[in-house]
Amino acid sequence: MRTAARQSTATFVVAFLLVMTLWSCYPKRVGPVGSNGKQLTWTEMNLDQRKAHMKSVVLPRAAELFQTWRPERFAMVDCSLCHGQGPRTGNFKMPTAYLPRLSGELLLGPEFEKYPETTQLKLDRLVPLMADALGKKSFSIITRRGFGCYSCHLGPSGPMFGN
Ligand code: HEC
Ligand code: HEC
Repeated sequence: MRTAARQSTATFVVAFLLVMTLWSCYPKRVGPVGSNGKQLTWTEMNLDQRKAHMKSVVLPRAAELFQTWRPERFAMVDCSLCHGQGPRTGNFKMPTAYLPRLSGELLLGPEFEKYPETTQLKLDRLVPLMADALGKKSFSIITRRGFGCYSCHLGPSGPMFGN
């Protein structure tokens, strides 16, 4: 009995350490090397570095995804796809009112009902792609934090889920 208890404690400790290790992998160092000799995380990048990262990493990958999905509609994809007038005004703040507001429902019920294809594509491919490109954790339904729909879209009355 005592051994069993000890074993389960050990299992718990190992599982706990594993979770902590995985957790601490974020944010990932996806940017250029900073002054301390380490690659920068997205949050550590300055505005110019962020623009460069968007141009060399985010835009090509997002463009490919949208073009594979609907080649005609997304033949020409640039920064304005997500940022609207951003390139003209210099305002790249996200989430943005330029994109349609979403329902705010955690399980995306209304989105799945009205736009099943878009919602599935975003959930399965765009969100993981963007999270990876930015070195961020994908949105978790449990913590309600991480990169997700509301990192780009606003909710009915403004930003949601810590964005
Ligand atoms: C597929 C959508 C998408 C495209 C295309 C895109 N961006 Fe972004 N951009 C984002 C998202 C999402 C964020 C917010 C990331 C975060 O902080 O979680 C962002 C953030 C930024 C920021 C940081 C804004 C701030 O306040 O810190 C800049 C600057 C930026 N983008 C510039 C660009 C430029 C320049 C291009 C074109 C070369 C571009 N983006 C293309 C989605 C996009
Ligand atoms: C990286 C930014 C980004 C993320 C993350 C994102 N979207 Fe979008 N979303 C867009 C862009 C850009 C458009 C406009 C593209 C277009 O013209 O269809 C859009 C359009 C939409 C539309 C309108 C579709 C239409 O045909 O009018 C819906 C609905 C939508 N997104 C739902 C979602 C859901 C649900 C999620 C999360 C699972 C999500 N989006 C995540 C960028 C994003």
